[in-house]
Amino acid sequence: MSHVTGLRCRECGREYPIEPLNVCDFCFGPLEVSYDYDAIAHVISRESIAKGPLTMWRYEDLLPVDGANAVDIATGFTPLIKAKNLGRVLGLDNLYIKNDSVNPSYSFKDRVVSVAATKALEFGFDTLACASTGNLAGAVAAHGAKAGMKVFVFIPADLEEGKIIGTAIYGAKLVAAKGSYDDVNRLCSELADTYRWAFVNINMRPYYSEGSKTLGYEVAEQLGWRAPDHAIVPAASGSLFTKIWKGLKELSDLGLIGQAHTKMHLIQAQGCSPIVEAYRQNSLHVRPIKPNTIAKSLAIGNPADGFYALKTLKATGGRAEAVPEEEVIEGIKLLAETEGVFTEAAGGVTVAGLRQLANLGVIEKNEVTVAYITGNGLKTQEIVRHVANPLIIEPNMESFEAAFMAAGGPRS
Ligand SMILES: Cc1ncc(COP(=O)(O)O)c(C=O)c1O
Ligand SMILES: [Zn+2]
Repeated sequence: MSHVTGLRCRECGREYPIEPLNVCDFCFGPLEVSYDYDAIAHVISRESIAKGPLTMWRYEDLLPVDGANAVDIATGFTPLIKAKNLGRVLGLDNLYIKNDSVNPSYSFKDRVVSVAATKALEFGFDTLACASTGNLAGAVAAHGAKAGMKVFVFIPADLEEGKIIGTAIYGAKLVAAKGSYDDVNRLCSELADTYRWAFVNINMRPYYSEGSKTLGYEVAEQLGWRAPDHAIVPAASGSLFTKIWKGLKELSDLGLIGQAHTKMHLIQAQGCSPIVEAYRQNSLHVRPIKPNTIAKSLAIGNPADGFYALKTLKATGGRAEAVPEEEVIEGIKLLAETEGVFTEAAGGVTVAGLRQLANLGVIEKNEVTVAYITGNGLKTQEIVRHVANPLIIEPNMESFEAAFMAAGGPRS
């Protein structure tokens, strides 16, 4: 059962009914879901959560939909890996990787869409839609298929092939617009006013964004019911970043963990770092930019939640870091070679940012640190194609040994 009481404007506090709305009519502030936390406190406990399914739906009491009707393709409860090898390289003894690249459509976006699709059915929509930088597209298409809904997905035309195929395969109608994500998003805002479609990240955004809280809950539970000392999170719109913090705060407010003292660190690639730029200027207002980055999944020049991400940085004492574009690939390789996890560019951004923070001495050796790996490398293979350089041989012993010796032999 859902414990939602309504929607509330984050700026002026005006209350709204539970409807597909995302903006306040009076001040244009974003709307957020409100809950009856007293009722939640009565029903939730570590034990009740532990009895739930091994998916994000074990936290249904803290989500804005009825979990019994969830559009569920087994998203969540992804592995938290103790990253000893990467930790050794970076001089960190308590480093963990939250490997969210193994969700059903291979990114954390399955979390937000599972909630949004469920809410869309509750509202009686028959069409699911989104504006996407790539990963949301696949998640919407997969959940739309499961829900038996029609699906329209809008993407910038220059997206990686793995993301286009990984969306079209579910039978979604894909619309590739010749422009940036920000152009696509603007178009979709107009479409959401015209068509009665559930745009997960526009008119469904208050519900959708709550799904990311589960990345806070899971990490706390997997650490033995405690918040980490540091969280390293890649950012595009900034929604994921703010909602991981909201999730940790909720757990501590409900007494399920101790005080959440996590320093929330936000990472972007240099070629699209408008939130980091505002942080450097000590401003809470993001100046939109035109992205030019290898990390296409993070290429949002006008981040909807930038203001709230900056407030979260201030509230938690975290840092915002931009990483040089060339270090994104290095980050992907470093994670793969040390921990056996193949991530996409967003994960490369996380690892490069983690390295930057470790080098700056921001993270103490023994502090519990979680790096969020939010997308899968198999979707963006073209950016690391240069590693595919096999020894070409005839299928016989002589040919192998000749090639092996030429490549340096047993010492190689
Ligand atoms: C893999 C991946 N990680 C992180 C993000 C950032 O999410 P947000 O827009 O909530 O900041 C995205 C956004 O598309 C993404 O695809
Ligand atoms: Zn308002």
